Amino acid sequence: MKRVPVAVMASGRGSNLKAILEAAERGECPVRVALVISDRPDAGALEIARAAGIAEVIYLNPRDYADRQAFDAACGGAIEAAGCDWVVLAGYMRILSDAFVRRFAGRAINIHPALLPAFPGAHAVADALEHGVKVTGCTVHMVDEKLDGGPILAQTTVPVLGDDTAETLHNRIHAEEHKLYPATLKRLAEETFHLDGRRVIWNS
Ligand code: GRF
Repeated sequence: MKRVPVAVMASGRGSNLKAILEAAERGECPVRVALVISDRPDAGALEIARAAGIAEVIYLNPRDYADRQAFDAACGGAIEAAGCDWVVLAGYMRILSDAFVRRFAGRAINIHPALLPAFPGAHAVADALEHGVKVTGCTVHMVDEKLDGGPILAQTTVPVLGDDTAETLHNRIHAEEHKLYPATLKRLAEETFHLDGRRVIWNS
């Protein structure tokens, strides 16, 4: 199986990284995670990456860099040095500089725990719950200069239950993310698409 080399950037517990690695291991996702970068030394994603034997697992401290641009340039350098074709954001909590977004234009994707364009930002699950929506979900989208604003590649819905807390709802969204992200990566590896305005049109 030809595998696409990808870099995963993650700040948190890393369950999406784990889902991608497990799907790849099962032969269901033709990617090779060549590099994992985190901006947090205690990110669970780093542990998961090390345990999985990922070739390069890097923690970069944003405070070691003059500004966002310099930090992102270091991340970009590591991604290119590792020969990664794509950048996969999986719970990466830093806003990316425009220069980074341009550098990886068309090659960077993100997963968000809501049905975009509803509830962008860092508190999507709580915001959706508080708003009272009956259905929410998760979105995989291209990364562009607008936060959580790039063209949508895939979405899955999740019903909101009467007794949901942000935690129970996020748990069920996570379960769907763990299927949607590997499936979307597989599709990206095996198919092509073009953009019609903001619409992602798969060519198959
Ligand atoms: C996910 O819910 C993702 O949608 C959001 O951050 C969370 C990351 O979870 N961007 P994990 O670190 O992959 O477990």
